[in-house]
Amino acid sequence: MTDIATRAAAVADEARSRIAAAATLDELKALDHELLGKTSVLGSLKASLRDVPPEERAAAGRALGEARARVEAAVAEREASLAAVARIERLEEERLDLSEVLPTPPLGHLHLITQTWEMLEDIFVGMGYTVAEGPEIESDWHNFEALNMPSGHPARSMWDTLYLDPGDGSAPETVLLRTHTSPVQIRTMVDAEPPIYIVAPGRVFRRDTPDATHLPVFHQIEALVVDRGIGFADLAGTIEAFVKALFGDERTTRLRPSFFPFTEPSAEFDMSMPDGGWIELGGCGMVHPNVLRAGGLDPDEWSGFAFGFGIDRIAKELHGVDDLRELVGNDIRFLSQF
Ligand code: PHE
Repeated sequence: MTDIATRAAAVADEARSRIAAAATLDELKALDHELLGKTSVLGSLKASLRDVPPEERAAAGRALGEARARVEAAVAEREASLAAVARIERLEEERLDLSEVLPTPPLGHLHLITQTWEMLEDIFVGMGYTVAEGPEIESDWHNFEALNMPSGHPARSMWDTLYLDPGDGSAPETVLLRTHTSPVQIRTMVDAEPPIYIVAPGRVFRRDTPDATHLPVFHQIEALVVDRGIGFADLAGTIEAFVKALFGDERTTRLRPSFFPFTEPSAEFDMSMPDGGWIELGGCGMVHPNVLRAGGLDPDEWSGFAFGFGIDRIAKELHGVDDLRELVGNDIRFLSQF
């Protein structure tokens, strides 16, 4: 190998390692000038070709050309990778963070009445009952007549009824807002064969002035059992069971004789309070034979019990609410406590 070829190869080797170490495009540009420009070592080797004997000149020239090409390739390669890095850095710098930081929106929850409604459903479903429903706008027949209260029956005055005029030619006082959930008893018996084990929660309406313990629009849950050989002890045991499930084992219940046209015998049921007192929860009794008949059932074959009580009052007792009107006042400070 000629002296020029050896030197050119050595120069190219050294140049390539310096190029590989170039940290910036500017540094690389300076190196390019230094290593490949006219005043570079390779440039001066080229100039010295003319002193090489003619028979060796071509080989020396080729070796020089190869050395130059290796240096140029190293510059191009380094330039590409530095440019890629520079591009990534620039993108990173120019990046705009457009993600919006929102305050966590306040999460709502079910209304206290709905929570209580669902708890009651769960307890009865756990005892094998299914949930039944009826309309809030009822016929006089379902709300009164079939419940053993023919028109003019004095017991109708137990409920201050809101009548509707649907404007379809219905006779006056035949369409009403249901005053209790008991019409669902009739609908269930008409629709289904015993054995019947249902609860019917829902909204009911009475022409009442609201006060701490009364609302004109409130909620009841009705239970109806019709089967063979159902007796009063089944009724008392069921009431005791759901009250304990809801309020705890230390509570107990008692029944006081009362009157409802659709049950015979009838009773009101109370729950014991921690202070030794009692509070009234609702009404109950054995389904009256006339009611079974209105539902299409033979009273000699089937017997049953029914009870009904206010969901809102249960919510009031469970949570120590002292005025029922708070439940419907829509004051978020009150509602968010539960
Ligand atoms: N429907 C009665 C009321 O609203 C309660 C009740 C239901 C009584 C079932 C007896 C049997 O007062």
